[in-house]
Amino acid sequence: MRKLAALTALVVSVVFAFGTAFAAPPDKMVLKEIRKIKAPVSFDHKAHAEMLKKCAVCHHADAAGKEQKCSKCHGEKTEGKKVSLKEAFHTQCKGCHQKEKKGPVKCDDCHKK
Ligand code: HEC
Ligand code: HEC
Ligand code: HEC
Ligand code: HEC
Repeated sequence: MRKLAALTALVVSVVFAFGTAFAAPPDKMVLKEIRKIKAPVSFDHKAHAEMLKKCAVCHHADAAGKEQKCSKCHGEKTEGKKVSLKEAFHTQCKGCHQKEKKGPVKCDDCHKK
């Protein structure tokens, strides 16, 4: 019985460690960090990640497993090649939808009222 309890504790701690080391990326999210005049944008993170395979397609400056918010680097204003946060989203999101001819490109299809 003691042995079983010890084993269970070990299994639980291993699962827990694994679970925290490889935290699942976010599922569905609402992007509204800058929001001033436009409606927030729903974004199915999981569907995009599964479809695009490589996280770095979007998290272009982060090492795998260390993905951060875009606003960690992109601020209110464009600085040289580092575009503003709004432009970062528009260029990346809309840019790919335009290129792929799939996904929303009209304002109100992303900024749903
Ligand atoms: C592919 C999706 C997408 C499309 C299409 C799109 N946007 Fe955005 N836009 C975003 C995202 C994501 C943000 C960041 C939202 C936030 O953080 O508030 C954003 C932010 C903004 C912001 C800054 C936030 C605010 O409320 O002031 C404005 C203004 C804006 N968009 C206007 C437009 C206009 C105008 C169009 C059409 C010409 C457009 N967007 C098309 C995704 C999109
Ligand atoms: C289509 C673009 C795209 C792809 C592909 C993508 N992400 Fe993201 N991810 C985002 C956006 C946009 C955010 C929200 C950023 C923000 O709020 O500034 C985000 C947020 C995150 C966050 C939360 C960061 C924080 O500090 O809140 C993590 C973690 C993350 N992504 C990991 C991943 C991993 C791991 C993958 C690959 C399996 C992946 N992402 C694929 C666009 C993407
Ligand atoms: C660790 C810092 C960092 C993070 C996090 C980051 N970026 Fe960037 N980004 C940069 C820098 C620096 C540049 C300037 C050009 C370059 O070095 O790639 C840039 C440039 C860009 C550009 C313009 C590049 C071009 O080809 O026109 C876009 C679009 C962009 N980032 C979108 C995003 C989005 C969307 C996210 C979040 C999913 C994000 N970035 C997260 C640092 C970052
Ligand atoms: C590298 C390519 C790529 C990037 C980057 C990308 N998308 Fe998409 N997105 C797609 C494709 C392809 C589809 C169409 C999927 C389909 O029709 O099966 C799509 C579909 C969508 C849809 C409609 C389906 C749904 O989930 O409701 C929304 C909304 C959307 N994208 C928002 C965004 C936002 C917001 C961003 C930026 C944070 C973004 N996308 C970045 C490729 C991309």
